[in-house]
Amino acid sequence: MAIPKLVLVCILLLVFRHANSQSLKANFYRRTCPSLETIVNATTATFISSAPSLAPALLRMHFHDCFVRGCDGSVLINSTSNNTAEKAAIPNQSLRGFQVIDAVKSAVERQCPGRVSCADILALVARDAVSLINGPFWPVPLGRRDGRVSNSTEALFQLPPPFFNSTQLIASFAAKNLTVKDLVVLSGSHTIGVAHCSSITSRLYNFTGRGDSDPSMDPNYVAALKRRCSPTDANSIIQMDPGSSQVFDEDYYSIVSKRRGLFQSDGALLTNSVTNAYVQQHSTSSRLSSFLNDFSKSMVKMGKIEVLTGSAGEIRRVCSVIN
Ligand code: HEM
Repeated sequence: MAIPKLVLVCILLLVFRHANSQSLKANFYRRTCPSLETIVNATTATFISSAPSLAPALLRMHFHDCFVRGCDGSVLINSTSNNTAEKAAIPNQSLRGFQVIDAVKSAVERQCPGRVSCADILALVARDAVSLINGPFWPVPLGRRDGRVSNSTEALFQLPPPFFNSTQLIASFAAKNLTVKDLVVLSGSHTIGVAHCSSITSRLYNFTGRGDSDPSMDPNYVAALKRRCSPTDANSIIQMDPGSSQVFDEDYYSIVSKRRGLFQSDGALLTNSVTNAYVQQHSTSSRLSSFLNDFSKSMVKMGKIEVLTGSAGEIRRVCSVIN
């Protein structure tokens, strides 16, 4: 039986994507930059020791890089007079920590000029920043190349917004070859870090356009959040896991199970049977090591999304500028 042309093309594309991510290697820079991981860790540590709140910011930056054109460092590129880059897209305007990437890149360039991609540096920095605040550690296979395209519209459409429901979230993750389990596990990142009031004002004040709030959120929590965020407040920040927003624990799942997840996308994890089961498991008894183990596995998968390898792309000299 002849295989239709379109199916064949799809199969080939999948095989190519898989082969690409398989070609990342733990020891990719063994000859070309043997001290890479030491340099990255030491430089990242100088920032995290004085500003641990950068750890969640760098983890989120890696996620936003990988979901738009794969983990290719395209989120790091600055806009120019004829290109509005990913950085300028609304969801990326709250990214923080670009100075850490720049400092690490400069330190790496001094030792190994022109060898190490910004995409690999971002993947390593995110891992090290999280483990420096005593969060999980995961292996980072290397050999990513840097992309030469960065487009704000793509970022707007590829990054899942906080108002997505479970069907939309699952589809967004599936488009990146991530499973429903990866979704609930990686959402556990929201156990660290902060959000701007602007990310939740419509949920608090104008959920259906009639001045109402989201009925799926605990009304006492809605009231508490309203005291922190006025309807016009775009700048104040709130901890997503109040009281332990710099501790990588399982609190996120207890918070979600109490209908106190900050975003609709957090609350949505209660509405799918697979994600709900994971939330319940991790909120009723302490299973921290299994969460951390799951998290590490999902991060390795996320770090392989649509990577450029071999001679594709480039090794950028400066992470914010295409060569
Ligand atoms: C499932 C879909 C997701 C949605 C809709 C979402 C949405 C958001 C939003 C709206 C914020 C707050 C931005 C602000 O107001 O400043 C945020 C923060 C954050 N997100 Fe997510 N996120 C998702 C998944 C992820 C994933 C997969 C990761 C990491 C692997 C992640 C890591 C973080 C971290 C660490 C922060 C805190 C950043 C900081 O402190 O600066 N998120 N997320």
